[in-house]
Amino acid sequence: MRSLGVVTLAVSALSALPFVLAQDSVSYDIETYGTDDPSGTPFQTYQSNGDIKPPQIHINSNQSGLAEGFVFIGVDGQPTSGQNFPTIFDMSEDRMGTLVWTGNYTEPFDFKAQTYKGQPVLTFMIGELLNGYGHGSFYVLNQSYVEIAHFSPVGYENLGDIHEFTITSDDTALVLVYTPKQADLSELGGAEDGWIFENIFQEVNIETGELVFEWNASTHVGLNESYNSIQDVGTEASPFDYFHINSVEKDANGDYLVSARVMDCVYKISKDDGHIIWRLHGKQSDFDVEDAVNFAFQHDARWVDDDQTRMTLFDNGPTDEIGYSRGLLLAVDQDAMTVRLINQFYNAAQTFAQFEGSLQAIDPSDENTNYFLGYGNQPYFAEFDKDGNILLDAQFGATNTVNSYRAFKLPWQGKPLTKPDIHYDKDGNKAYFSWNGATDVENWIVFTANATDSTTWYNVTSARRTGFETTIDLTDIKLETYVRAKAVNSTGGKLGWTKASDGTSLYDASDDVQEDSNNSTSTSTSTGTSTTAAPTSSSATAAAPSSSTTGAAVRAAQRVIEQVYVVAVVVVGGLALA
Ligand SMILES: *[C@@H]1O[C@H](CO)[C@@H](O)[C@H](O)[C@H]1NC(C)=O
Ligand SMILES: *[C@@H]1O[C@H](CO)[C@@H](O)[C@H](O)[C@H]1NC(C)=O
Ligand SMILES: *[C@@H]1O[C@H](CO)[C@@H](O)[C@H](O)[C@H]1NC(C)=O
Ligand SMILES: *[C@@H]1O[C@H](CO)[C@@H](O)[C@H](O)[C@H]1NC(C)=O
Ligand SMILES: *[C@@H]1O[C@H](CO)[C@@H](O)[C@H](O)[C@H]1NC(C)=O
Ligand SMILES: *[C@@H]1O[C@H](CO)[C@@H](O)[C@H](O)[C@H]1NC(C)=O
Ligand SMILES: *[C@@H]1O[C@H](CO)[C@@H](O)[C@H](O)[C@H]1NC(C)=O
Ligand SMILES: *[C@@H]1O[C@H](CO)[C@@H](O)[C@H](O)[C@H]1NC(C)=O
Ligand SMILES: *[C@@H]1O[C@H](CO)[C@@H](O)[C@H](O)[C@H]1NC(C)=O
Ligand SMILES: *[C@@H]1O[C@H](CO)[C@@H](O)[C@H](O)[C@H]1NC(C)=O
Repeated sequence: MRSLGVVTLAVSALSALPFVLAQDSVSYDIETYGTDDPSGTPFQTYQSNGDIKPPQIHINSNQSGLAEGFVFIGVDGQPTSGQNFPTIFDMSEDRMGTLVWTGNYTEPFDFKAQTYKGQPVLTFMIGELLNGYGHGSFYVLNQSYVEIAHFSPVGYENLGDIHEFTITSDDTALVLVYTPKQADLSELGGAEDGWIFENIFQEVNIETGELVFEWNASTHVGLNESYNSIQDVGTEASPFDYFHINSVEKDANGDYLVSARVMDCVYKISKDDGHIIWRLHGKQSDFDVEDAVNFAFQHDARWVDDDQTRMTLFDNGPTDEIGYSRGLLLAVDQDAMTVRLINQFYNAAQTFAQFEGSLQAIDPSDENTNYFLGYGNQPYFAEFDKDGNILLDAQFGATNTVNSYRAFKLPWQGKPLTKPDIHYDKDGNKAYFSWNGATDVENWIVFTANATDSTTWYNVTSARRTGFETTIDLTDIKLETYVRAKAVNSTGGKLGWTKASDGTSLYDASDDVQEDSNNSTSTSTSTGTSTTAAPTSSSATAAAPSSSTTGAAVRAAQRVIEQVYVVAVVVVGGLALA
């Protein structure tokens, strides 16, 4: 939410120029979601930056009371979508759905902002996505979007898994590895000389590459705890995925919290020797778990508070009772060994996300914080107040076209080293300005001069930034040959200058220039961010997968491996499963 105070300040700093408060023009038409061509998800395009086309966000509903912060989406989907990049969106009231940053890293996983060595950073995993797991490495970018670290798990070069990259308060990283290991599968009806996926988590010193801690599931967890069935796997080429680790975090005491999808279980692991301190849910639960909590195929188990009394997780389901996915806020009592439901969170469509997904307590230090739900393999996210009321319900693509492993709402300040971008449409009397990743730009001030190396540039108009790209109408403004703009922050401080344009080409021009005013009586109007939906087919709409039946039949038939590029619809017992 923008405070009125800042707006007033900005207006007064710019009072010398005609000033227009512009509304963003991003609009969305559900009919444009083309399911004839699964790659045809709606995207935003820009005149000033032709390289990028992030997904267009459709706001199903929005209310007041949204938390501060930007939305972080690691877009994955059809390779032809041209959208598979880490992407940050502005969801504030008057720039809702507009792009903040996108970067050229294909198919990111677990994209988010974290703190590393005291500085805000962006982090993600990049690599090859395999059948429900991955092989890759981990990236850390600073606030200028420059890589400052890039590493692999220790002993597993480029074999880091997709599911987790969390930086601890000790500046170590928690990452996962799936690796084939020989195992006797006879107790499950498999081969004596069969193969499983060993599920490893490591704590790694990012700077030195030193291994701080390592834990292997097979050392501590029996095959008989798994709900997964062997089916036709269990070979070296296709190991049996009996555990499916998908989140790990380190608690305030240094012990670890691990989520394993096909165990329906969250484990607390000792920092001392890796032994299991307790199991929450699953076949061998140490807790009395109330029925309302019953979860299945879950992801993203997190402590909310350092005292470990509240836990969040994403319950993919389906369970016997519930056929849709939900975020769960749990009260965990480690003395009485009980788990009860505090609240659950789900969107209006009651989307079912078969795999992936996340639930974030946006400000864990605040007991009344909002919650942010990412629907994993379905392109939906939502924000809720603490009581589960929907404050924001959004989607960024058609069902089964694009997705984001997790979704977060987080603070971020970006200070790109690039120059801001300009497109000057001389015939159309318009100029377009954007700056990928620059969060502080509040206004664009337009200047003109009759030489690129002019030492004096005349300011002619300005406009408040409307979103990613701001369009400024120059119709009634007397211009010299060249046009450029200066990006300023909310207190009028200079952030950067664009190159100069004569409407045909871009030219280098000094940023160290005299600024002057011709007292032009211009009346500029700024229109909104230029946004065009992809050309898509006519009528098909993308209904959110919802469920009116119970999950019982579904659960029995569901395959428990994860697949990411699922576009075929499998019909199981009358319920369409993505
Ligand atoms: C992204 O990077 C690849 C290779 O690193 C390059 O070929 C491609 O042009 C880049 N795309 C954009 C939009 O910059
Ligand atoms: C948010 O909700 C308000 C009130 O219903 C509506 O006027 C506005 O258009 C919505 N914003 C977006 C971006 O959909
Ligand atoms: C990011 O790193 C680059 C390269 O070291 C440096 O030039 C830049 O100043 C850094 N940005 C920030 C915000 O620290
Ligand atoms: C985990 O398993 C891997 C592969 O079998 C092995 O190299 C490693 O030593 C094991 N680590 C621990 C802590 O058991
Ligand atoms: C799995 O086997 C172990 C060792 O025999 C046993 O202690 C445990 O109870 C079994 N668990 C289940 C869920 O059957
Ligand atoms: C435009 O260029 C001419 C010379 O070509 C110069 O005399 C004049 O001062 C320039 N005007 C501005 C506004 O810079
Ligand atoms: C600014 O003033 C100079 C000098 O009078 C003139 O040449 C130029 O055309 C004016 N430019 C604008 C944008 O009004
Ligand atoms: C605006 O930028 C100037 C530097 O150009 C800086 O001194 C000032 O603190 C910034 N204001 C805000 C609100 O960030
Ligand atoms: C435009 O130039 C005049 C003259 O230098 C200056 O007083 C005014 O503050 C400038 N306006 C902006 C928005 O920079
Ligand atoms: C611009 O307008 C202001 C206020 O009307 C006036 O004081 C100033 O002299 C004018 N400057 C020029 C260059 O005409």
